[in-house]
Amino acid sequence: DMTPADKAKYVSARRAADLVENGMRVGLGTGSTAAFLVRRLGEMVRDEGLKIRGVPTSTRTADLARAEGIEVITLEQAGWLDLTIDGADEFDNDLNLIKGGGGALLQEKIVAMASDRMIVIADAGKHVETLGAFPLPVEIIPFGWQATRKLIEELLISMDVQGHDTALRMASESPFVTDEGNYILDLDLKRIGDAQQLAQALNQIPGVVENGLFIDICDTVVIGYDDGRLELRD
Ligand code: A5P
Repeated sequence: DMTPADKAKYVSARRAADLVENGMRVGLGTGSTAAFLVRRLGEMVRDEGLKIRGVPTSTRTADLARAEGIEVITLEQAGWLDLTIDGADEFDNDLNLIKGGGGALLQEKIVAMASDRMIVIADAGKHVETLGAFPLPVEIIPFGWQATRKLIEELLISMDVQGHDTALRMASESPFVTDEGNYILDLDLKRIGDAQQLAQALNQIPGVVENGLFIDICDTVVIGYDDGRLELRD
């Protein structure tokens, strides 16, 4: 049985799947909402003869997509994508996002930026007035990670953010390692005043690979509600 939050994710994913057309090269997001999408696309491939090629944003999504019978290709093979559909941890009224709760933000951002269109699927609980309540994931190179963390903490003091705590993401006893072999720092900022400025400043630090702020990347958010209602924002 689905929880109310799962129901909201499911209706959102199902609505977004209807925007996928024959012949499309589709970026496949990561996370529990994106998993609903991949399973729905699998159904459409198997039962309705939908012909698509999918570019997954993580090994998890690649495994699921293959198990669902979706043809999986690399971004290199695809060259460019017609559409990417992914979840998010937060979205605001300008459709700016925080992503990376699942640790796949780097591939997610590369894939989204290599797409004509990015659609976010989310339950209504992901909507915020101001980004930052969800800790911002930042992917960093393992080499000298403590020095990178120190530079990030110094930067945060000069930025328009409310919180300053940083935490190295762990997988039980050892650091969590991304698909690209990096670490993740989660920044507990509570309230991000200027998300664009922060995103740019973070990426200026040498050990930072990418951050989970998606600014001006998302074109449409398909919002699902617990009672099955849907809302599209673009
Ligand atoms: C994965 O790295 C994230 O960007 C996900 O898109 C995000 O965590 C959303 O996950 P859920 O759909 O499970 O909430």
